[in-house]
Amino acid sequence: MTNLDQINNLEHVDKQSMLRHIQELPDQIENCWEEMKSFVMPANYIKLSNVVILGMGGSAVGGFLAKALAFSTSKVPIEVVNSYHLPNYVGPETLVIGLSYSGNTEETLTTFREAGKKKAKLVAITMGGELASIASNFKAPVYTINYGSQPRAALGYLFTAVLGVLSKLDLVDLGKDDVRESAVLMRGLATKLNPEVPTYQNEAKKLAITMEDKLPIIAGAGVMAPVAYRWRTQINENGKHLAYSLELPELCHNWLAGLKVPQPLLKQTYVLFIQSKHENERNRIRQNIIGQILRKQGVKYDIISLQLSGCVLSEMLVTIYLGDYVSYYMAILKDIDPTKVEEIEYLKKQLS
Ligand code: F6R
Repeated sequence: MTNLDQINNLEHVDKQSMLRHIQELPDQIENCWEEMKSFVMPANYIKLSNVVILGMGGSAVGGFLAKALAFSTSKVPIEVVNSYHLPNYVGPETLVIGLSYSGNTEETLTTFREAGKKKAKLVAITMGGELASIASNFKAPVYTINYGSQPRAALGYLFTAVLGVLSKLDLVDLGKDDVRESAVLMRGLATKLNPEVPTYQNEAKKLAITMEDKLPIIAGAGVMAPVAYRWRTQINENGKHLAYSLELPELCHNWLAGLKVPQPLLKQTYVLFIQSKHENERNRIRQNIIGQILRKQGVKYDIISLQLSGCVLSEMLVTIYLGDYVSYYMAILKDIDPTKVEEIEYLKKQLS
């Protein structure tokens, strides 16, 4: 096991600077928000019946987060589609946001083209690729991401650009300082999670070590459900580690009943509840009761709650930030480059 406090070795393992990208997440969010101010949406886009966000993997996460944040304010339904098919209701009064970092993801291209044929109002958020070309053919606006990284490491752009689009259409309610406040809080947290902070004071390193030989299951409610999902995907892709995410209160109605077998797997399982100060009080009560059940079954669990004073957006982003660092250290512990995702690339190559 690599000692997380021997930081001189980091560059040998983190060959493509994943740490730098994680550290740049607050900058990404602020840059994108600034750029979105001059992003012009066609005037007729204001008349909408629904919104569909298309994306896969790291790009889809931006959509899931935006959907959760807009849940209590949007006057129209918002759906995220991460498959080959569009819902039947997509039509001229649907805003379809094509979200693909590379602009070349097969599923997203398929549904984006179909949405164009159905005369939906299109917007593309991408580095370029085929998605940008399709959008141009349909004379749709394109927000171009100017940032070189793995898609998942550009979440600051992917998420904030969707928020920018939704806020121009009054579908999400963001305070004028929410983005700046989030970036400030994230930078503050980074000083506590960076590699020079020793394990005994560093929550991200501690969590990475706790999860090292475990099967992590990350659970959250409301806005923390997609945050838990981001943790899971980062642990998978950066940490090269099997993990799952669950949503509260739904898990109380099924998953709980399965905590019996296989026993060896239960011993290996680690459940992490991510709390939010904005969530329904009943979910906290549920978490405590589930905790008692988990203890009885010999399953290790923890509850994290960053309990910041800020807005919902900042709570989501800061919690994501902690997860990103955890996933990074999980790779370092294994002596594996956090950037490489060989299996995903192999699969894409085989399909092409
Ligand atoms: C890789 C990653 C993947 C991609 C996904 C879709 O870092 O996060 O999950 O996001 O394969 O590709 P894009 O985002 O280019 O549409």
